[in-house]
Amino acid sequence: MSSPRTVIRGGLVVTASDEVHADVLVEEGRIAAVAASDSSAARSWTDAEVIDATGKYVIPGGVDAHTHMELPFGGTFASDTFETGTRAAAWGGTTTIVDFAVQSVGQSLRAGLDAWHAKADGRCAVDYGFHMIVSDVTDPVLKEMDILVEEGVTSFKLFMAYPGVFYSDDGRILRAMQRASGNGGLIMMHAENGIAIDVLVQQALAAGKTDPRYHGEVRHALLEAEATHRAIQLARVAGAPLYVVHVSAEQAVAELAAARDMDLPVFGETCPQYLFLSTDNLAEPDFEGAKYVCSTPLRPSEHQAALWRALRTNDLQVVSTDHCPFCFAGQKELGRGDFSKIPNGLPGVENRMDLLHQAVVDGHLTRRRWIEIACAAPARMFGLYPRKGTLAPGADADVVIYDPHAEQVVSARTHHMNVDYSAYEGRRLTGRVETVLSRGVTVVDRGEYTGRAGHGHYVPRGLSSYLA
Ligand code: URP
Ligand code: ZN
Ligand code: ZN
Ligand code: ZN
Repeated sequence: MSSPRTVIRGGLVVTASDEVHADVLVEEGRIAAVAASDSSAARSWTDAEVIDATGKYVIPGGVDAHTHMELPFGGTFASDTFETGTRAAAWGGTTTIVDFAVQSVGQSLRAGLDAWHAKADGRCAVDYGFHMIVSDVTDPVLKEMDILVEEGVTSFKLFMAYPGVFYSDDGRILRAMQRASGNGGLIMMHAENGIAIDVLVQQALAAGKTDPRYHGEVRHALLEAEATHRAIQLARVAGAPLYVVHVSAEQAVAELAAARDMDLPVFGETCPQYLFLSTDNLAEPDFEGAKYVCSTPLRPSEHQAALWRALRTNDLQVVSTDHCPFCFAGQKELGRGDFSKIPNGLPGVENRMDLLHQAVVDGHLTRRRWIEIACAAPARMFGLYPRKGTLAPGADADVVIYDPHAEQVVSARTHHMNVDYSAYEGRRLTGRVETVLSRGVTVVDRGEYTGRAGHGHYVPRGLSSYLA
């Protein structure tokens, strides 16, 4: 447990803006001070419990702005509950998640949000906020959006995909964007042309193409790029900012880059699965490819260079997981003989910080850019900064002591997510989370879980400061 004062001594403090050998003083759950390790200020902190971080990085806790605990999808539910999923997040050095509450068609936003609060309340290991999935854009729902923004649900996800489930047509999307332009909310877009994709799905199935790899073929990269382009134009017409989720196609990245070159407030996220996995995984034999079915789909590995480049040039700002696990046994298997019945989503909330550290080791990212895309940018984008996403006086003491030299092999046998496979099984990574503090409380202590369900609090969010 945390003492009233804790000092993390001797580490390399890495934030999005700085790397300094510094000590971090934690008081009452917040960062009280950061001072050079050899300074008289740091030496004066003598009455505190000491965590030795010599040879380690001291970084802000990760902010995963895209998770789906317990999401109902395809006749089943994502297999991580808020309890198991946030515990796995803590193990992986993520101390804040922003999950998606869902409005069902015919329901109010309030009813959906209340239902998600009931799932999460008292169960989370780390702090959490909510975005709202808007499935039914009506006049009363548009008014509710204003109220939710006031209450700290400041972002709304709309879908150009999944007709008959979450899908909104262009008119509904435009109206929601106009509302966001008035109330300061941020529209998040699932940009895939779902109407065209559904035609290709039916044609593929009719031709006997039922294996998981056809999921990738029918969800064509050009249909992601087309929807991304259309979403950008609709947002321009509405005068609203736009955040495109789970970008995977290089042609979609090009649309975002072109918009940003025009100085438009257009932002994008990608996910580890698009950076580290490919259609080769979707093509694995014996239905193993089902483990890698998500939307947008995995792309041929040639797309990865564009994603890495965009993360360096800031044409993509955020890496979130889109954590939406389904067990292979009993859940992914629902789609044997029909890829369109495979529940969409991959596990990853526990792996994101480590995979992105590996990208530092491999030379794709600098250390500071790692912290920017995994901590600071998502916090700014979703109104959590500087309380989350950095290590500065006054911030919540969400801190990870990270061992950059430890070696690990990712495996479902050792992970903590409630899912029977790992998308990264057998992958060797350099770097590992050692100790994790959430609001000053040690929740992971050198390989031991010391947190508890209910420690995590709901965090109402402000408006996006990325737009300021
Ligand atoms: O395949 C995915 N991404 N499942 C989760 C729902 C979504 O579209 O984000
Ligand atoms: Zn304590
Ligand atoms: Zn989506
Ligand atoms: Zn998602």
